[in-house]
Amino acid sequence: MAEVVIVPSAEEAGRLAADAIIRLIARKPNAVLGLATGSTPLSTYAALAERATAEAGDLTHVRGFALDEYLGLPADHPESYRAVITREVVEPLGLTPPNIHVPNGSPDGIETAGDDYERAIVAAGGVDLQILGIGTDGHVGFNEPGSSFASLTRVKTLTEQTRRDNARFFAAQNAGEASDAVPMHCITQGLGTILRARHLVLLAFGAAKAAAVAAAVEGPVTASQPGSIIQLHPHTTVIIDEAAAADLANADYYRHAWLNRPAWQQL
Ligand code: PGA
Repeated sequence: MAEVVIVPSAEEAGRLAADAIIRLIARKPNAVLGLATGSTPLSTYAALAERATAEAGDLTHVRGFALDEYLGLPADHPESYRAVITREVVEPLGLTPPNIHVPNGSPDGIETAGDDYERAIVAAGGVDLQILGIGTDGHVGFNEPGSSFASLTRVKTLTEQTRRDNARFFAAQNAGEASDAVPMHCITQGLGTILRARHLVLLAFGAAKAAAVAAAVEGPVTASQPGSIIQLHPHTTVIIDEAAAADLANADYYRHAWLNRPAWQQL
């Protein structure tokens, strides 16, 4: 079972996730991080940036692989995940740009981009710690409902719900329908790729995520709820706020287990 930690705020969640990442980097300075985009991981990146130099020391050897990328956005588009990762992770943390990989969403070479990405992850020795958000429709990465548990990095079509959810990031480009500016396609690590990471840290905040979190943590394991893959992984930590925990049947047990965790147990 995933370890579920219910915290008062996204900031507290970010601090806990950053603790796990800092411990990993102390043990393995060239650790491989799986980097999520979207609003959810921002408190983790902020906590890391605050403590990076003081506690984590030299981050220049850290390597990273983004979960996904939109298809067909120009490389310099501010909402391309290459640009987002550069702005929100690489620059604030002082990471080394060539160490940080993002799937290639350019139409040139798209046929091989997924295989190339898988090879690069394998060549790096695999992902040590994968940061994950979850979509309101239950997606992880951009693996929309129905994605195969064995899937690897490949092109997917976004659901209209995901395009609506992400329209807020594209507000400056929106002319017509709210979601018009959001690309229809993406390239995403597969659920099979994500399952190979050694530690999954799934974060979720707010009432809009409560149903997806409950389905992921307690629902049946089903491709209809891609987040439910966490139940197949030997080391998953779910860090959520009270609102995102609202639909969990066993929330009291998770709180009890966290409060009474053995002193040696770390995330
Ligand atoms: P969000 O997106 O962090 O912007 O809520 C999460 C996701 O779509 O996986």
